[in-house]
Amino acid sequence: MAEVVIRVRDNGPYLVEGPVTVLDASGKAFPIDKARPATALCRCGASAKKPFCDGAHQAAGFQAADRAPTAD
Ligand code: FES
Repeated sequence: MAEVVIRVRDNGPYLVEGPVTVLDASGKAFPIDKARPATALCRCGASAKKPFCDGAHQAAGFQAADRAPTAD
């Protein structure tokens, strides 16, 4: 099974790369285009298509540039 990678985009969504299923609170799956290489999940709260990113983070002025800690 392929490893799923989540990329934290600066000022934008989480990009989930790999075969994923996104379930709502009742366990029902959201439709996902499996032909796309990645699924963008909203982390700004402004999307009209939550839990997916619709690009609204740009107009909302969402800012985040989280970095993983460096190994010492
Ligand atoms: S991260 Fe893109 S709309 Fe929220």
